[in-house]
Amino acid sequence: ERIARKHINCRGDIDMLTVPLLRIYESLIPPKEEKEKQMQLLTSLEKLVVSEWPHAHLCLFGSCANSFGVSNSDVDVCLVLRDADIDKSEILLKLAEILLSANFQNVQALTRARVPIIKLKDPVTGVSCDICINNVLAVVNTKLLRDYAQIDVRLPQLAFIVKHWAKSRGVNETYQGTLSSYAYVLMCIHFLQHRDPPILPCLQETKIVTYHKIVDNIECAYFDQVEKLKTFGSRNKETVARLVWGFFHYWAYCHDYANTVVSVRTKNTVSKRAKDWTRRIGKDRHLICIEDPFETSHDLGRVVDKYSIKVLREEFERAATILQTYPNPCEKLFEPF
Ligand code: GTP
Ligand code: MG
Repeated sequence: ERIARKHINCRGDIDMLTVPLLRIYESLIPPKEEKEKQMQLLTSLEKLVVSEWPHAHLCLFGSCANSFGVSNSDVDVCLVLRDADIDKSEILLKLAEILLSANFQNVQALTRARVPIIKLKDPVTGVSCDICINNVLAVVNTKLLRDYAQIDVRLPQLAFIVKHWAKSRGVNETYQGTLSSYAYVLMCIHFLQHRDPPILPCLQETKIVTYHKIVDNIECAYFDQVEKLKTFGSRNKETVARLVWGFFHYWAYCHDYANTVVSVRTKNTVSKRAKDWTRRIGKDRHLICIEDPFETSHDLGRVVDKYSIKVLREEFERAATILQTYPNPCEKLFEPF
C-alpha cells in the first residue's frame, strides 16, 4: 500500500522511452528467412511421420505460431494422431528411431516429462525443435494468442519487451520456479484488457462465438473474427513506454497476490477463494495465480515456490524502479542477471 502510493504517478517524460523500446522490439522480430526455414523443417518432418503413420499430421504451436516468437526460438511441433488411446512413450521412441536414421542431430526422447517430447536439431536449417503428441489444447491456445496479437500492435510490442526482459533477468525458467513465456503473454493480455479505456477485449466473453472446438472434454469457444476488432483499442492512446512502465508497476505494487487470479477468460479478476487456490495442494502453492484460458483448473503459476516468488517480485520492483528513475533505463532494464 505504502509503496504503491510512492510510485503512483508515472514519470512525466515516460513517452520519451517509446523510441528506444520500439527499437528493441524491432530488433527481436525474426527475419522472414527464419519462417521459411521452419516451414522447410516441418515439411521434412511431415514426410517422415506420414510414411510411418499415414493418418497423422503435424501442427506448429508455441512461439513460432502464436506471433510472440523472437528470433532463433525453438520450434514447437505437435504430432496429431487420430487414435486417442495410444502409448505416447512407445510412439516417441519409434519416432526417435526414425529421426535418427534420417540424420537429425541431438535426438533425445524425454518420455518421463510432464509433457513427453522429443528434442532434435535439423542439420540442414540449424533449427532446434521439440515434438510432442496430441497436445491439441496447446495448438488451440496458440491460436487464441495469435488472434489477440492481431487486435492491437501494442500487445506484441509489450509482450516482446517483457519476454526479452524475463530471459535477460533469468526469470523465464519454469524448472527454477519462475514463469513460462506463455504465462508472461497471458499477463500482458490481462494487463491490456484492464486499461481504461481497454486496449484488448475479452474474446471468450463476447456474445458471439465464431470458433468452437471440444478438446480433451474441454470446450474451447470464443470470437475469432479479430479483423473486426482492429479499432477496439483506438480510444486508448497510451504509448508502449507507458504500458511497459504500467505493466511492471502493476506487478510490483498493485497486484493482489493474496486474493486474485489473473484470468484472460473473464473480464473481471477471479478470486483465489472461488477457485480453491488459497492453500498448497501437493506441490501447487498458488503464490501467483494465472489461469489457463481453456484448461481453467490449470494455474500457470503453480511452478512458483516461496523462494522464486520473492525473486519474481523483486525483479518486478527493480524493473519498475529503473523505468521510473533512470535517465536512460533501457540498458539497465535488460542487464543480464
Ligand atoms: P518461447 O519458446 O520462450 O519463445 O515461448 P513459447 O510461446 O513457445 O512458450 P513455451 O515454450 O513456454 O510454451 C509452448 C506452448 O506450450 C505455449 O505456447 C502453450 O501453447 C503451451 N502450454 C500449455 N500449457 C503450458 C504450461 O503450463 N507451460 C508452458 N510452458 N506451456 C504451456
Ligand atoms: Mg517454445
